[in-house]
Amino acid sequence: MSKKSFYITTPIYYVNDKPHIGHAYTTVAADVMARYKRMCGFDVLFLTGTDEHGQKMEQAAMKKGVKPIELADANMARFRDLWKTLNISNDDFIRTTEERHKKTVLAMFKKMKDAGDIYLGEYEGWYCTPCEAYWTETQILDGNVCPDCGRPTSKMKEASYFFRMSKYQDRILEHIEKHPEFIRPESRKNEIVSFVREGLRDLSISRVNFSWGIPVEGDPDHVIYVWMDALVNYISAVGYFSGDPKAGEFWPADVHLVGKDILRFHTVYWPAMLMSAGIELPKSVFAHGWWTVEGKKMSKSMGNAIDPDWLVKKFSRDSFRYFLLREVPFGLDGDFSFRAMIHRINGDLANDLGNLLSRTLGMVQRYFGGTIPDYNAPEAADEKIYGALPTLADRVEGFLNAQAFNKALTAIWEFVGAMNRYIDETQPWFLAKDPEKKDRLGSVLYTVMDGLRAVSHFIYPFMPETAEAMRKQLAEESPVNVSSPEDLKRVKTLKSGRPIGETKAIFPRIDEKAMLEELSPEKEAAEAPSESGIEYGDFDKVEIKAGKVLAAENVKKSEKLLKLTIDVGDGGRTIVSGIAKTYKPEDLVGLTIAVVTNLKPVKLMGIESRGMVLSATAGDRHNVLKLPDETPAGTRIK
Ligand code: MSP
Repeated sequence: MSKKSFYITTPIYYVNDKPHIGHAYTTVAADVMARYKRMCGFDVLFLTGTDEHGQKMEQAAMKKGVKPIELADANMARFRDLWKTLNISNDDFIRTTEERHKKTVLAMFKKMKDAGDIYLGEYEGWYCTPCEAYWTETQILDGNVCPDCGRPTSKMKEASYFFRMSKYQDRILEHIEKHPEFIRPESRKNEIVSFVREGLRDLSISRVNFSWGIPVEGDPDHVIYVWMDALVNYISAVGYFSGDPKAGEFWPADVHLVGKDILRFHTVYWPAMLMSAGIELPKSVFAHGWWTVEGKKMSKSMGNAIDPDWLVKKFSRDSFRYFLLREVPFGLDGDFSFRAMIHRINGDLANDLGNLLSRTLGMVQRYFGGTIPDYNAPEAADEKIYGALPTLADRVEGFLNAQAFNKALTAIWEFVGAMNRYIDETQPWFLAKDPEKKDRLGSVLYTVMDGLRAVSHFIYPFMPETAEAMRKQLAEESPVNVSSPEDLKRVKTLKSGRPIGETKAIFPRIDEKAMLEELSPEKEAAEAPSESGIEYGDFDKVEIKAGKVLAAENVKKSEKLLKLTIDVGDGGRTIVSGIAKTYKPEDLVGLTIAVVTNLKPVKLMGIESRGMVLSATAGDRHNVLKLPDETPAGTRIK
């Protein structure tokens, strides 16, 4: 029988900063799917990687004084290393700076051009550098602010290649309608449908104002728009245009997992590009929600992004993986809190699962000298356990195929709960008191062990290390991977008569109070803006200029205030400054000093002040920032 194939992708991550739990989330989810499919006998291609081009990257590198590729190399390695730490089983890792990718992007561009879908035009719009996005007059918010991130945009007019995306509006709507599984979850689908119905514009797909990207063939002043460049990664990795057999086996992808913020790129732009190039569309795109941290929005620029490496050190990689997928339904937003994580670890992992394993193996040790007993005294209660397994296998499969990770875990834990109740009801410790009930005692313990063997399969995609540790302790020697999902329904396969492995708590209980105390410095650091500081854009909002003091006088009835007339390139304006205890008016006239010019006007002692004199201040002592006399009034200070 030929193997079935399964192709899953994560977004490729920007490398202008280090990874945080938001990135870990998508990658862990994709890993669960990949491991599950491999376990069930599928031939899997699991792709992740890094998005390395673009203006944002060029600027981040410039700020650090390094070349963009050096920054990309360094940060790419952080992602690659984190995936090792988190036990991610990706089959490939693609970088957009690789030759195989650049070639595919150019081939794609050519296909779209040959289809008559690319033309040279002129773009005018409001550009948001952090988002790498252009906005139209109607999209930007008051104050020319980016509707996505709230930061200032700047007006740009430049030559640009355009993709005739508008041409594909109807075909995209038709595709969404005909393929109900194309956009998930359902609620997100409606969002996209209304967006497309409002009308698609042609898309600007090249830039001339920076150079860190893939140059357009034959017109190297233009580099290809970073989103067009990035989306193509999904076909670069299968060697789509180079005759690689992987293309035939794995394309179209089964699922692109993405965050809700980038769904539009994947369900409108990407499909339109593929349609233009005559390539099949991915089977589905699933948008997950966003994490906040302890109730606050998490972002690189806020500096509260939690470092997954650090979390894994404090807890364990499997408990982190479990928490991410158990705590919140995959399509919804969720909050990360240390308390919630500790509760999950202590409740679900240490208590429900860990204790079940250790108390069962403890009894096998005590009553059977550590040898797996026979199953030779069946009773009706056992059948409830064995009978539940095929249903559980079907449910887990259904849930995972729908990316309902938390439902799959809930179903598995319902079964773990049923086994805990089974032990409490069959009371093996009483059976042990009666030598005549030894067979029954063995059968009860066997049933729980075989149930735990089955559980090890189901939890394997989520917690591979734990699953393997459980299997070792249960003396299950066959590999966790089977040949079809049907194999997961088999019961009573554990071999009696084998000595169990060395027993060890799979999830030690965490002392909540002590752990929270231990975490508090890191917690505070995570919550406070850290080394990342403010963005350059924030600083750039403050307009500081050279100002020539034309006139100065004391403000009546004030000991501290001086009324100054300062020329900041505008001929002179009034600025009231609290420096009268250090300077007499005549000390200042004629000086060229640094002045903040774009503060909102304020009234001080009834006088409107339009700016602020900068000074080094200690108590009442002020030292204004004097500039060389020849500095022209109005020169911007940066
Ligand atoms: N480079 C683009 C993707 C190109 S795919 C062809 C990009 N990169 S990113 O690094 O900014 O984001 C990658 C993913 O991380 C996105 O899916 C985004 O939704 C996700 N997350 C970023 N912050 C997140 C949270 N706070 N919570 C959950 N996911 C988050 O976009």
